[in-house]
This record gives sequence, C-alpha cells and structure tokens, in this order.
Amino acid sequence: MKNNISPYIIAVLASAMTSTHVLAASQPWLDSTQSPDQRAMLLQQDLTLEEQIRRVHGEMAMPILGFTVPEGAIGSAGFVPADPARGIPALQITDASLGVANPANVRPGDGGTPLPSGLSSAASWNPAVAYDGGRMIGQEAWSKGFNVMLAGGVNLARDPRNGRNFEYFGEDPLLAGTMAGESIRGIQSQHVLSTIKHFAMNDQETARMGMNAVIDERPLTESDLLAFQFAIERGQPGAVMCGYNRVNGSHACDNAELLQRILKNRWGYRGFVMSDWGSVHSVEAAMHGVDIEMGTQLDKWLFGDVFFEQPLLAKAEREQAYRTRLEDMSRRVLRSMFDVGLFEHPPVKTPIDYVASKAVAQRAAEEGMVLLRNEKQILPLKGTGTNQRILVVGGNADKGVLSGAGSSQVVEPEGPGLAIHSGGEGQFASLREMVWHRSSPLKALKAELPDAVITFNDGRNPGEAAALAKNADVVIVFATQWMMESYDTFDLELPSGQNDLIDAVASANVKTVVVLETGGPVSMPWLKKTGAVVQAWYPGAGGGEAIARTLTGKVNPSGRLPITFPADIKQLPRPVIPGFGGPENAKIDVDYNVEGADVGYKWFARKAIKPLFPFGFGLSYTKFKYDGLNIEKTSPLTVSFKVTNTGPLTGQDVPQLYLTHMPGRAQQRLLGWNKIELRAGESRSVTLQVDSRLLADFDVRAQRWSVAPGDYAVALGHSATDLVARQQVDLSRQDFADPVVSH
Ligand code: BGC
Repeated sequence: MKNNISPYIIAVLASAMTSTHVLAASQPWLDSTQSPDQRAMLLQQDLTLEEQIRRVHGEMAMPILGFTVPEGAIGSAGFVPADPARGIPALQITDASLGVANPANVRPGDGGTPLPSGLSSAASWNPAVAYDGGRMIGQEAWSKGFNVMLAGGVNLARDPRNGRNFEYFGEDPLLAGTMAGESIRGIQSQHVLSTIKHFAMNDQETARMGMNAVIDERPLTESDLLAFQFAIERGQPGAVMCGYNRVNGSHACDNAELLQRILKNRWGYRGFVMSDWGSVHSVEAAMHGVDIEMGTQLDKWLFGDVFFEQPLLAKAEREQAYRTRLEDMSRRVLRSMFDVGLFEHPPVKTPIDYVASKAVAQRAAEEGMVLLRNEKQILPLKGTGTNQRILVVGGNADKGVLSGAGSSQVVEPEGPGLAIHSGGEGQFASLREMVWHRSSPLKALKAELPDAVITFNDGRNPGEAAALAKNADVVIVFATQWMMESYDTFDLELPSGQNDLIDAVASANVKTVVVLETGGPVSMPWLKKTGAVVQAWYPGAGGGEAIARTLTGKVNPSGRLPITFPADIKQLPRPVIPGFGGPENAKIDVDYNVEGADVGYKWFARKAIKPLFPFGFGLSYTKFKYDGLNIEKTSPLTVSFKVTNTGPLTGQDVPQLYLTHMPGRAQQRLLGWNKIELRAGESRSVTLQVDSRLLADFDVRAQRWSVAPGDYAVALGHSATDLVARQQVDLSRQDFADPVVSH
C-alpha cells in the first residue's frame, strides 16, 4: 500500500495536517475529532457578548412585505451571517418539509422537486419513504447553497380542516413521530440541519397567532408531545421551532413549561429552540427557553423590537443570569451546527439530477395512494389494447396536480403547470396562489394506455360532463381541495360545485372513478354512486404518473389513511372551528381537553361513532389474511403474527397492531405496524416491539410513565375498526422516566 502513495500526495497530506494542527491550536473548535459539545463550548468561549448576540437572531431573507434580502443571503426564509474569522458558516435557511420552497416564486427560476404532501408520505406507512424523501430534499437544499431546512412538521391532525395538515403526518403520535423523525434523519444525512415544528399544539390555523391551546399535562404528554418525542429520538433534529400559538396561557415561544421544563430538562434535548417567524414578543423569551429569534423584521414590525439584539445585549451586560443564558443559547446553536456537520460540509452549488429527484417523489406518491372504494373490481382499468373510451373530467388534470400553499410552497424548476392567484386578504394574501405541479395525470394516462381513446372535459359544466360520461366506458373525475397555511377550511365539502359534478357524472355512468387531490379528508355525498375512489392527496412532482400507474395496476395501492375521514363535522370534538370567521389573530381559547389525548380514531372509538373511512383504512388489488397472533411478555413487549397474501397479485400490506383495553378502561392506541410486500400466496412472519409509553399513562405528579398492573387487550387489524385477531396480556406494574431524547 505504502508504495502506491505518490510523494505528491504525501506532501499535500503533510501540509494539510500541519495547517489543521496550527488551526487546532489557535481555533481548537475546528478539530472535528472532539465532540460537538466540546467544540461548541470552546467556540462559544471565544466569542464576545456582541458576537454571541449575532449567533442568536436571524432575519427573514425574502423580498416580501417590503423587506430587503440581507447581504450574503440566498433570498429565502432566513439568514444568520457567517463569522469568517472563526470559521463559523452562515445559516442559509429554507422552508421546508416538502422540498426547497420558493413561495410566490421569490427566487425566479430557482425551483425544486416537490415531494407529495406530508399526509401522503404518512399514508405510505413506510419509514423508508419518509427517509428517502428527506434525503432527496436535503440534497437539493445543499446543492442550492442551503444548510438549514425548516422541516419536520409533526403537529397532530386534531381537526381535519386544519389548513396545514397537508404539511404534517396525521393524527397518531407513533405514526407521525416515526415518519417525521425519518424525514428529519434523511435531511440531516446531507449535512443540512432540520427543525422539528411547531412546538407545540399549533393545531389550527384560525387565529394562529392569538389562539390559546388549553390542555392538561397528561393528555398533552400522551398525544402531541409524544409525537415530538418519538420524532426527536429518531431524527435528532438540530432545532425545535416553537409555534405562534399560546399553550395554557403562555406563547409557545415564551413558554418555560414547554421549552425549559419539558423539552430541555425532562427530555434532555441538547439542540436549540428556534422561534417561528415573528413569534418572540419580549426579551424574557430568552429566559423561557428560546435560543434564537428568527424573522426579526417581523418581530420589529409586530411587537416593536428585535429582542435578541440590543435588548438582550443590554440585559446580558448588566445581569449574570442573562449572561449565562446567552452563553447557553449561542452554545446550543453552535452545538447543533457541529453535530450536523455544517462546519465540515459547507453547501456547494452543484447541478441537481432532477430526474432522480422526481423518481423519489413519484415512489413516495405511489406508496401513499389510498384506494378507498373499488366496487366490482372496476380498478385496475382493464381493456388496454382495445379502443376503450375513457373520459377524464376536471381538476385541471390536463395541466398537473394540485399542491398546498404557504411558506412550504415548492415551485418546480420549469415553473408551475398552472398557477391561479386566488385573491383574498390577510397575512398571506401575497402567497395565496394555487399551484399545480407539472405532472399531468391526463398525459400520464395517455402514456400508460396508448390504445385507449382518452378525452378530457374540464368539468366546469356538470350537465355537459354527465352527457359525455354516458358515452364513455369509464369516467375518471379529478376533484381538488386547496388548503393553505394561515387558513382552515370551514367544512369538509369539496369546493366550487365539485360534489354536484361528481354526482352528475356518477349518475350518468356507474363506472366512475373519483381521484381526490385534497389537503386532507373530505366528505363524499356521492360515494355510493361511484365505482371507485382513490385518495391521491397532493401527490407532488411525479403525482400524475403515480395516479396513472395506480389506476392501471402497475402499482398495487398500498397506502392506508393516516387520518380519520369523518362522516360529518358534527362527529368532531369541535364541530365549529373556534374563532372561525373572526379577526385574524383573535385571542381565543381552544379547549383541547374535550378529546384530550384521544385524537382522531381514539375519539371515534371513545364515542363509538362510525366515520366515513377509519384511520388505517386502505384497499389493495389483492387480499391479506392474518393469523398466529402471539404476545411475549418481554420488555418491551414483543408481538408476532403471520401475514398471507391470499389474492391473485403481488402487493404490499400494512398489518396494524392496536391496544383496545387497559386496566379499568377501554382505550385504543396504535402500538405498531409493518409494511411488507408479499407475492400471491406468500406468507411471512412479522415481529413488532411495543414502546412501553404506549401501554402507560403519564403520571403528572411523579413526572414519569406508569404501566398499571392488570389485563391489556391487543388486537391486530386492517384498520382501526377492522380488527381481526385479539389477545389478552397480563402486565405487572412498571414505572419509568422519559428516555433522554438527544444522543
Ligand atoms: C411558518 C413556519 C415557517 C416560517 C418561515 C412561518 O410563517 O409558520 O412554518 O417555517 O414561517 O417561513
């Protein structure tokens, strides 16, 4: 080996080692063999008070609302300048979970690849889909010069009308936490620091800056906080973004209970807390746990100051407590930067392989398609090779697939397939653009079925569409529901007369397939008249192809609902969204103790009400059977069973394990699942380990989890309501503290 190394390489290595050595002596934090904690401590100690202050606030870097892009910034959500003398890189910050965002096309021509919505990824129930998606968008961000992504939205879907549900991962803490954690892990694998957000209870958009989430500690810990805990443990996000809302009286970004006592002390989180843009209201937020104030122009505009600039400096100069806190704040920011590799792996502008990125997005969309109805096996479409007449109606399916709007809006490199400004008022008026990504389902269907005669009708006139439907062998209606940040929908109805359109078409032709491109659940008054329904969510860059491949059977649908579809909004804990129609940031209370920890399917189980479609539901073109459910009383509990594909085709299944009863009460909780692919006739054993927190209640007085002694009923099923095998297990008492979330 030795002989193969040229003298030139030896000389280069030697000089590099010497310069590292010299640097390591004068700037010891650059020595990457030390731990992130040590490096951050050494670097922080070298900073003056003013220099520490420079680490703990950052501007919005987008040219909107009259703000200018700071020097050195790319022109995105946020920016913190570099300190070249010490080798500290700038933070170039971009939104977010679904790709490199470019809302309102503020960087013309700088598009990225949009993943399908968070709900679509969650519907895949496949952690690898979330990881691969995270890795892809992290890589695109890095290649564009970004080193921070404001991703990791994991707020639980307490209300199906929440305008940001499409950014999140559904209603269950284990599913949402697992998928968010994997997405963050994927992003950070590219040396792009990810947030997790919005901590916590930012569960509706109505009055989002004024609303106060009222919830007791136990249900809070067992629901929304548990989702964060699972995600932080898996993903190790560098930052936690606190939300706009208040929680039990204090702003989430001024909430010592949440940030200091729970996140940092009880959970042992060692990253930093980043404020949402314009959510620091005073300098005391620093003492209550916020480490960096972001979107400073917004704070100045809304509340009159940049609190972590002059006001914090003045405090730190006079008061030891503030000085100590400022040291901790800047150290935490630097620690995460070292931990994720921002010093050693600075972004380099690199050409992006958009074809490869699109393939990742398309695979995610394919795994997230949920087949909700398939009467007489109308799907997959048969008759290729014949002159089958297919009528495609509505949804701008000739142009592309819909996406959700707000700060997370991704625009494709070549621009949108279609963009319509929707008008309207309020904070986000300039971002109210309905964007269809370029992947047209109509074009993709034509490519998949070259011998069929496929025609398109825009669906504006239901009577006309129905008349055309009569002459078609199959009709595919595309229905859309546009959702956006800062705005919840009033109800679950498809807007703009689309229910009438579907009703008219399905009445004219029983072979009607409805494809839903929606932010979340919608009602389906026409359901019984249709042949099939596919929930496609916002399916992202490869959405049209994913839909076409699902309808034609190239893809066997394997998505399962990550959110309950109610039969009626009267079934919800709050049939009317609190504050709806009132002033934008009204100071209102939202009582979440109504459902407490029983979010989504748990609420439906507790109330014994039947949804339109339950959590976990989704059909396949094949069938699966379960047997041999067996529980071993190990710690953690081990559960095994056998899954058999009893149908005619290869397919992926998602067997789901639920708790249904615990000592003293009925209680449903998802305990685990697996996504497995089986060929026709194939069987496989599956083993799951159950996180003990899911069998416990949180004991607020003792500040620990507690498994009560007694009988626990566990059930294996195809969804939250289709449970096919049950077992009892008798557990002894077990008390345990929260695991430390940071590594
Ligand atoms: C959103 C955040 C986002 C931030 C920066 C806020 O309005 O709530 O999710 O990351 O803006 O764009």
